[in-house]
Amino acid sequence: MKTILVTGGTGYIGSHTVVELQEAGFNVVVVDNLSNSHVEVIDQIEAITGTRPEFEKVDLRDREATLEVFTRHPDIRAVIHFAALKAVGESVNIPLDYYKNNIDSLIHVLEGMKLSQVHHIVFSSSCTVYGEPDVLPVTEHAPIKKANSPYGNTKQICEEIMADFRIPNPDINVISLRYFNPIGAHESALIGELPIGIPNNLVPFITQTAIGIRDELKVFGDDYNTPDGSAIRDYINVVDLARAHVVAIERLIGKKNKSGYEIFNLGTGKGNSVFEVIKTFEKVTKSSLKYKVVGRREGDVEQVFADTAFANEELGWKAEKSLEETLLTAWKWEQYYRAENTPKSRTKK
Ligand code: NAD
Ligand code: UFG
Repeated sequence: MKTILVTGGTGYIGSHTVVELQEAGFNVVVVDNLSNSHVEVIDQIEAITGTRPEFEKVDLRDREATLEVFTRHPDIRAVIHFAALKAVGESVNIPLDYYKNNIDSLIHVLEGMKLSQVHHIVFSSSCTVYGEPDVLPVTEHAPIKKANSPYGNTKQICEEIMADFRIPNPDINVISLRYFNPIGAHESALIGELPIGIPNNLVPFITQTAIGIRDELKVFGDDYNTPDGSAIRDYINVVDLARAHVVAIERLIGKKNKSGYEIFNLGTGKGNSVFEVIKTFEKVTKSSLKYKVVGRREGDVEQVFADTAFANEELGWKAEKSLEETLLTAWKWEQYYRAENTPKSRTKK
């Protein structure tokens, strides 16, 4: 069985991807330092798939510990590198933590790959690399704009590091996946997004408001140059996103990676405004959400959504789930999680 090393595999997107990888027949080794996730997620993955992924609690900032993961698992065929700090606002306040964590981790993973002759890596990038795009929908050829946060800058730098690393190591194959806005949860409701503290992102804030943990949602700006004045994003179902990683891994291992370094936008191709997300949530949950409009959030772009043609045609992957069904999965996850309190207690039922 082919073994895939998944860094950040107990995190939000990572855990959904481990499920899809295992269901596609891959053997998975998860590495995570649990700085933004819970080890019980491994139980949840086992509950969904019937298979327990191997788990190693390792901090990828630790070079020796990272290299040891590769020597302990000589069967690793490819890496999916999710592990990173990811809060845009926080990165402005603690930039060095972001540079150190996100860049050192990638360097150590690449060193491990070189040491162990692992040739394939899928990297978690972001549409933040496009900044405020001049042309919509945004294609992979859109210019990279100056990052508006240290977090965004780490994604740009990491993409450059991998490109440079390939020059003396042309046998290394990279697929960089630029995610738009992942939302929702696995349909089992056993795994989902579990932000620590007050959520920064729209959908967890909506579900936490609906369940009564937050008083009301603040809509950041209704004076954008969009049809209803609120900002527009491309919200993609996290399981659809996870499936794209399986396709990317199969493409790398099957040697269909044409240039050795490929970049794909992962979105739905459709933009939705904040008000549309709220209205859709209210419709599918038959509830009314408390919200008020406040000023714009610093660093937000007005609108961004993906041109998905390259991913659809070249990768052979397409986002399938609608905003309606995806918001319902987020709501179901929020309800189950709050009802059962901890992920661990849920698997026991
Ligand atoms: P997440 O925080 O849920 O998962 C990241 C995981 O990495 C966490 O479990 C965390 O504990 C782990 N981690 C962080 N630093 C580590 C280190 N030094 N060593 C070992 N483990 C470490 O985040 P996510 O939403 O699942 O994001 C996964 C990746 O996708 C990240 O690289 C993120 O930047 C990228 N991304 C996310 C979004 C989004 O909206 N969620 C959008 C674009 C890109
Ligand atoms: N928003 C609100 N109120 C909130 C939270 C968000 O109105 O309480 C609005 C934002 O202003 C924005 C939209 O909802 O217009 C989406 O905001 P998110 O914070 O959910 O997502 P972002 O587009 O700001 O950023 C997310 C991730 C980044 C990632 C980026 C692109 O947080 O890490 O998507 O993939 F890089």
